[in-house]
Amino acid sequence: MKDFTNDPLRIAVIGAGIMGRGIAQVAASAGIHVVLHDLDETVVNDAVAFVHKMLDRAVEKGRMSAEKAEAGKSCISRSSDLVDLSGVDLVIEAIVENIEVKQSLFKALEEIVSDECILATNTSSLSVTAVAANCRHPQRVAGFHFFNPVPLMKLVEVISAIRTSDEVAAQLQALTRRLGHTPVMVDDSPGFLVNHSGRGLITEGLRILHENITGVQAVDAVMRDCLGFRMGPFELMDLTGLDVTFPASEQVYNQYFQEPRVRPTPLQRRRYIAGLLGRKTNEGFYRYEDGKKIVKEEMSAPDIAPSSAFWISRDNEELSEKVVTILRQAGVEIDESESPRKNSIAVATPLGLDASTAIVDENLPAQRTVAVDALFNLDKRIVLMASPATTSEVINEAWSALARSGRTVSVIKDSGGFIAQRIAATIVNIACDIAQQGIARPEDIDTGARLGLAYPQGPLALGDATGAGRVLTILENLQRVYGDPRYRPSPWLRRRAQLGLSLLTTE
Ligand code: NAI
Repeated sequence: MKDFTNDPLRIAVIGAGIMGRGIAQVAASAGIHVVLHDLDETVVNDAVAFVHKMLDRAVEKGRMSAEKAEAGKSCISRSSDLVDLSGVDLVIEAIVENIEVKQSLFKALEEIVSDECILATNTSSLSVTAVAANCRHPQRVAGFHFFNPVPLMKLVEVISAIRTSDEVAAQLQALTRRLGHTPVMVDDSPGFLVNHSGRGLITEGLRILHENITGVQAVDAVMRDCLGFRMGPFELMDLTGLDVTFPASEQVYNQYFQEPRVRPTPLQRRRYIAGLLGRKTNEGFYRYEDGKKIVKEEMSAPDIAPSSAFWISRDNEELSEKVVTILRQAGVEIDESESPRKNSIAVATPLGLDASTAIVDENLPAQRTVAVDALFNLDKRIVLMASPATTSEVINEAWSALARSGRTVSVIKDSGGFIAQRIAATIVNIACDIAQQGIARPEDIDTGARLGLAYPQGPLALGDATGAGRVLTILENLQRVYGDPRYRPSPWLRRRAQLGLSLLTTE
């Protein structure tokens, strides 16, 4: 077998649609000879013209020299007959997402290419093991999963099916680097790495909506302001389109035999059936006019002169101090007594619990208690939560006081783990279980989320920054509030939290 790191290579790309042409573009840009083939010859012609145009554009923008672009163009050729592909070192299949069609293509290819040739599939949702099932040499079949748009999305999942040889996976890893992309090594499993680890943000965001805790705008704003995400779950689903996200959610869930951690929510199906797909239909979780998202103005805080003192729970000293600092900035009186004075407003700072449970656990006055999520970044936004017993006067006074510190306040109904805590803990927990199952190495799990999902940091790094012990507490408390096995902590998380180790520690 050739060394894919440096040797001159000839590769074939079958299927010259969106993905095939993107893969051909990055390969030709790296000086690798590419033969493009498609059932439809006009598509191949379009694809070649497209790659030429993209290379010219790269020269215009000063990103590529004219010589390199010309060399790239001369690397691209076309074929209308599979037999022309007999001499290639690698075939990358990017045809229609249908298992029977892919299986019969791979069977036909084995009659044409040499025994050394690697057969790779760009499938985004089918089992690579199933694609390889009818092959005579399944050890040379692997998943080679690029993301759209290929030149910009620098991540490639190299997926090993049950019989894929280590050498084949290593060669594809080397080729990925040669293309200027970053490989992550993944075991063939539902959703592979990125689609699996991306479930948490979406399913838990939807869960919050399903429980009627607050609206889409507040959830998205909290994920941006408090956790530094580029987009919240609803903005992301609107961008991707529910026609992609919903089937992917259902598939990962069912292929894991109804694993509760990745369970979708009925309202996702309802919106999908109604055609509220997102930006592409001008209406999804948001409405769009001329491509612009319509955002409702956030309710401004009531302006109430402070009359009550605020007593802050000392259940967690660090969180308590954060809230005290904010309330002092707001100029309100802090009640420093052991337990809240009769007319004070009590503020709980629970981890994973709802306000109601915190009230009972800490024996706080239900009508005069609110809860604040003090775990993440509070510079811009604070989430304020009330129990069903909290009076509206108390909610408004707390809201007004917190807003006086200059921050935006999102007021939500009672929720185990507010918004950010439960979404972050779900993301970390799913990533931990991916590590536990050996689907990918911890560093690759984080790389996949940063490059494939544009997360500000990998989920395991997020878990470490939050504190594995705290993430464990949040999940255990979520399970206590909801009794739902979706929150059961992964053993990977539990062990590292108990031993005080980083979530990136392997055995
Ligand atoms: P596409 O519809 O743009 O292109 C598919 C092309 O394959 C078409 O031009 C079609 O004529 C051709 N084709 C179909 N059957 C063929 C056959 N038997 N032999 C030769 N050519 C055949 O599809 P797209 O989006 O490029 O997807 C291709 C593959 O990549 C699918 O497996 C998809 O799941 C996967 N993928 C797609 C991503 C996306 O965002 N579009 C992202 C990652 C993977």
